[in-house]
Amino acid sequence: MVRRESKRKRPKKEEKQLKEKSLIESEVFDKATLLILSDFIKRGVLRTVDYPIAKGKEANVFRASTAGGYAAVKIYRIETGNFIRMQDYIRGDVRFSQLRRDKRSIVNAWVSKEFKNLRICKEAGVNAPAPIGFKNNVLVMEFLGEEGIPDSTLQAVGSDEPERHCDSLLEAIRKLWKAGFVHADISEYNVLLHKNEPYLIDAGQGVLKNHPKAEEFLERDIGNVLKYFEKYGVKRENVLEGVRG
Ligand SMILES: Nc1ncnc2c1ncn2[C@@H]1O[C@H](COP(=O)(O)OP(=O)(O)OP(=O)(O)O)[C@@H](O)[C@H]1O
Ligand SMILES: [Mg+2]
Repeated sequence: MVRRESKRKRPKKEEKQLKEKSLIESEVFDKATLLILSDFIKRGVLRTVDYPIAKGKEANVFRASTAGGYAAVKIYRIETGNFIRMQDYIRGDVRFSQLRRDKRSIVNAWVSKEFKNLRICKEAGVNAPAPIGFKNNVLVMEFLGEEGIPDSTLQAVGSDEPERHCDSLLEAIRKLWKAGFVHADISEYNVLLHKNEPYLIDAGQGVLKNHPKAEEFLERDIGNVLKYFEKYGVKRENVLEGVRG
């Protein structure tokens, strides 16, 4: 009995050391961030943070384990993010009119914005990771993947059903517009193929319809989708009219 236990424990310990190494190397774990993660763990939202999935311009995304499966954890870096860009998308948003201007406040606002935007996507019936929780620079959301392996972006794997995928994305844009929202960062880089269905990710940039640039962002999102699928010979007419309804 004792021997069996120690046999089971050894690989676990090694695995833990490997995880810790990769987490520390990923550079986002300042003390404040570690405290937030440990709070998510204490509250039972997460069990472990497993490994980095991707390092973006402003954030690092990790796979985490939960009681029932997995979650994706997006951690914004305070020191190396692009705050000028963030400010542009927060300024016109009535939800954040009282915001302070220091880096930390902007990042925190951005994360809460991304969380709220994911909720808008879900409520509009659009495929996107379900939001689970957030605190300061940390966003926890549904993990998109299969058997623990994260899904790939449309950019990385391409489309084997371009007509259907194109229409599905345009329909998502239409539903969001109807719900009073524009994602504002749709491209093949921010679409994951989950069970071969396109899912919108990276919703932090999204704005409400009353944002001064909402129409411009809507046209850009549509343009990016059409341009991408044009490579596959997909052509769609009068899309903007169709989306606006
Ligand atoms: N919910 C999720 N489930 C699985 N993987 C995810 C999830 N969210 C993000 N990812 C992975 O992390 C990558 C980066 O995510 P995201 O685009 O949200 O961050 P980002 O920092 O804006 O990145 P970039 O600067 O490259 O746009 C995605 O391309 C995807 O591979
Ligand atoms: Mg992205």
